[in-house]
Amino acid sequence: MNRPAELPEQVGTLVEAAEAGVVGRSLPHESAVLHVSGRAAYTDDLPELAGTLHAALGLSPLAHGVIEALDLAAVAAMPGVVDVFSARDIPGANECGPLVHDDPILAGEAGAVLRYRGQPVFVVVARSRDEARRAAAQATRVVRARPLPPLLTAEEAHAAGQYVVPPMHLARGDAAGAIAAAPHRFRTRFTVGGQEQFYLEGQISYAVPAEDHGLKLWCSTQHPSEMQHLVAHALGVAAHAVQVECRRMGGGFGGKESQSALFACVAAVAARRSGAPVKLRVDRDDDFLVTGRRHGFVYEADIGHDDEGRVLGAEITMISNAGHSADLSGPVMTRALCHFDNAYWLPNVAIHGYSAKTNTQSNTAFRGFGGPQGAIAVEILLDSVARRLGLDALAVRRANFYGLSGGGERDTTPYGQTVEDNIVAPLVAELVASSGYAARREAIAAFNATSPVLKRGLSLVPLKFGISFNVSHLNQAGALVHIYTDGSVLVNHGGTEMGQGLNTKVAQVVAHELGLPLARVRCSATDTSKVANTSATAASTGADLNGKAAQAAARTLRERLDRFKAEQPQHATLPWEALVQQAYLARVQLWSDGFYATPGLHWNRQTLQGRPFFYFAYGAAVSEVIVDTLTGEHRLLRADLLHDAGRSLNPALDIGQVEGAYIQGYGWLTMEELVWHPADGSPKAGLLMTHAPSTYKIPTANDVPPVFVTRLYDAPNPADSIHRSKAVGEPPLLLPISALLAIRDAVSAVGGHRVDPPLDAPATPEAVLKALRAVREGRSAST
Ligand code: MTE
Ligand code: HPA
Ligand code: MOS
Repeated sequence: MNRPAELPEQVGTLVEAAEAGVVGRSLPHESAVLHVSGRAAYTDDLPELAGTLHAALGLSPLAHGVIEALDLAAVAAMPGVVDVFSARDIPGANECGPLVHDDPILAGEAGAVLRYRGQPVFVVVARSRDEARRAAAQATRVVRARPLPPLLTAEEAHAAGQYVVPPMHLARGDAAGAIAAAPHRFRTRFTVGGQEQFYLEGQISYAVPAEDHGLKLWCSTQHPSEMQHLVAHALGVAAHAVQVECRRMGGGFGGKESQSALFACVAAVAARRSGAPVKLRVDRDDDFLVTGRRHGFVYEADIGHDDEGRVLGAEITMISNAGHSADLSGPVMTRALCHFDNAYWLPNVAIHGYSAKTNTQSNTAFRGFGGPQGAIAVEILLDSVARRLGLDALAVRRANFYGLSGGGERDTTPYGQTVEDNIVAPLVAELVASSGYAARREAIAAFNATSPVLKRGLSLVPLKFGISFNVSHLNQAGALVHIYTDGSVLVNHGGTEMGQGLNTKVAQVVAHELGLPLARVRCSATDTSKVANTSATAASTGADLNGKAAQAAARTLRERLDRFKAEQPQHATLPWEALVQQAYLARVQLWSDGFYATPGLHWNRQTLQGRPFFYFAYGAAVSEVIVDTLTGEHRLLRADLLHDAGRSLNPALDIGQVEGAYIQGYGWLTMEELVWHPADGSPKAGLLMTHAPSTYKIPTANDVPPVFVTRLYDAPNPADSIHRSKAVGEPPLLLPISALLAIRDAVSAVGGHRVDPPLDAPATPEAVLKALRAVREGRSAST
């Protein structure tokens, strides 16, 4: 595997790097030693206070129905049970939706509608977690409900006109006219599945009552401020009565952007009612059954192109399975619409987005936030264009890149933002050379010509990903920097640490600003009582926003100390500790806040026009696979990734993000399959059958390709970002689209590359076998 050479040998000590500069170096993750030695404390590891009680959730046994009776007395009589409550016992609002108020914490009482199988209906609080779970498992007996027919698929809900937010349309030019007039035209339909975040640390909250109706909550969340507000509403108290803290998460991947809220609110209400500390740590199966995940999408496309494969007109309908409530499905769909262009100039385009309301878990943020679902559509279409013309897909992609033939008009996205920073062409050229694309393409053709059973496939896919929250006001952040009188520095910012290395990067920025070695700077837990009104750590903006805010705070301190040195020149040459000491004695304020708001953003939600993104991140990947055409199985043989992290703040962390995103997205597109029991009238209708690792397969170390070459494309961000770096968390999730298309390439080899394989994602062995049969029978995906 590709590892950065600069990674220090002694991972135990953070490298003292004042002279060499701490920004831009491959320094270890701030918690690396704690992670590998098992001493990094996650929420469940915090010492429990005496008298701590444990909560468990009683779940809906139906995908759709009306509650007729809730017989909670039977549950209350179970051993160890201290309290049982339902929706009516919530002192404040029974609501935990992030944007639209359509997300009850608990389903309700007799007469209320059950919206999905797994929806929390009641809460058990018991002396031990086991006792709470055993009592909660009575749900199938005590929740008596009249079944209603469930809608489980996006297609059915779309046909019924059921949506969680109004349909969206993004159009430019005359798509229908351009398609009709184009020399070539085809229609196609394909689907891409959802994906479970599978954070290693499941959802958890620990609520401790504080004086005068106050509450302290430790919560594994990407969004402490939103947890604070939703808990305050649920308790019927003001936000200043609730304090939320998160030192780190064992992964979030979007699954803890909004959906940590239900667990936070339940723990808080339980603690309020019992007056005791209450912990809610859900089992993995319950986590699967209660929370949503990446939206699966269905696509219907109509496209017109010329002889070189240039897209002249495209019309596409995207239908997402949003689940039972809005959650973040609106912004996810917006990002999908705004990434259908990926790296390509589409002169005439009409994109329609429908967020279908179904009786399933409410789908939510997942790394890429709709961007991957938007970009994969155009990549599949270009792949089909190339196959239909008998051209290499790379040539077709290049013919469609933004900005060819003199820029100007060819640089405007369908949503009206100009692509000013385009580096796709040189980046792809570098990857084509470094990966040996052309020679390998020939070698694969030669191999396939003599190999009847095993077929190889190759694909190169570029990416462009818009950086900023696509809701403009969220692009703000705050930080506090304290210099203590011994010269040590404590940073607190509004971002959360989920393994991505945000605290390391922010500490690097502060150390750089103050001219200190990194060891002098420490980040403390994210805490709503320190920095207020923070945005979720999401949209990959953690370091961009909080790095700038912390830089501003540190800069204020440096300027104060510089002024002090200028006024009292006898101190100008003192070492740091002595300088700080003298400044303290002279009553210089040694702590500061800092604030940052991304400049230049504007967005019209009605017209879907504006400048939603501060800049774009770019990248490209070449994936090679081998497919066994008898079993449908495949192996990933090699992946070459070239990713744009701007002037990376920390190349080791960024390479980790790129590799991790590639493998995570590879899992999404090739093996992670969600299966709900069909609406066949059986008692299992609507049950998510794949609710544990026994049935839901995520990639493991064995799935990493034997040749895995990951490099960063070193080019400073032309936008004034933190040290000219670029956000890196989500964009590389688009890189493994190349793995799916490499499988498609191998499958199409069976038909001499003349038939477009109808291959949906995930490309499981079953899906691949189906596509192989279709190719052999001449049934094309596009007509
Ligand atoms: N990396 C790790 N190790 N764990 C995570 O949960 N989440 C991803 C990405 N990388 C995640 C991760 C997602 S969905 C986002 S939006 C970003 O990290 C958030 O962090 P950042 O903004 O600091 O990059
Ligand atoms: N990403 C993540 N979360 C968000 C976004 C986004 O683009 N917009 C609103 N919430
Ligand atoms: Mo990431 S999906 O924006 O939390």
